[in-house]
Amino acid sequence: MFIGIQLLLLFTSITTNPMRSTKCLFSSKQTLFNFTDSTSSVNDWIEISDTERDVGKSKGVFVEQKTQQFQRAIFFSLLNPQPNGAGFVGIANRKKSFDLSSFTGLQLSVRAQGENFIYKVILRHHNEESSLQPSYEIFFELPKNELTEQYLPFNDFKPYSRGKSLDPNTTPPLDRTDITSIGLQIVGGVYLPIKQHGTSSLEIDSIIAVKCE
Ligand SMILES: *[C@@H]1O[C@H](CO)[C@@H](O)[C@H](O)[C@H]1NC(C)=O
Repeated sequence: MFIGIQLLLLFTSITTNPMRSTKCLFSSKQTLFNFTDSTSSVNDWIEISDTERDVGKSKGVFVEQKTQQFQRAIFFSLLNPQPNGAGFVGIANRKKSFDLSSFTGLQLSVRAQGENFIYKVILRHHNEESSLQPSYEIFFELPKNELTEQYLPFNDFKPYSRGKSLDPNTTPPLDRTDITSIGLQIVGGVYLPIKQHGTSSLEIDSIIAVKCE
């Protein structure tokens, strides 16, 4: 019952507020990843998809795109979920540690195309990389086929373990002074009323931390 209400709230927030939160007017920022910069690379990123479980059949890749005019990075995903929606494709950077305590959220400069538009960002702290340890996640739906800036307030990140929401009152809060994993994921939606499957792409220019006014 409790979980049902949470799902309903999530569903309501995704459906009634698809853009969730738009661009914020920020007074300060820290660039975490700038894939438009020629010195940037995706080499520090790893794939974390459902094939880490026995039944998983999904696949993702994170690659650099370099043209004569610009460059960015692209997260391609193929979601092959179980009939109940179980399945996910993800990428993460676990090579850096960030103190983001003076910022209010993350801002992504991205464009989503393909079959699916609901993504999540997953944060972890203190090098807690086990899927049994809590992760801190936020769902958002991106506009279709449009370059956009998506603001994701830290206050809206909630604790999860293996895709199941945890009680925020009994889970340690995210320690923003020591963020050691930043990831992106697209899910089949086993615990959600919305299901996703198939192929999608997310072009990423940058991921920055911002302090919103
Ligand atoms: C990314 O790098 C480019 C080229 O160096 C620069 O012009 C741009 O301002 C940077 N963007 C961010 C968000 O730091």
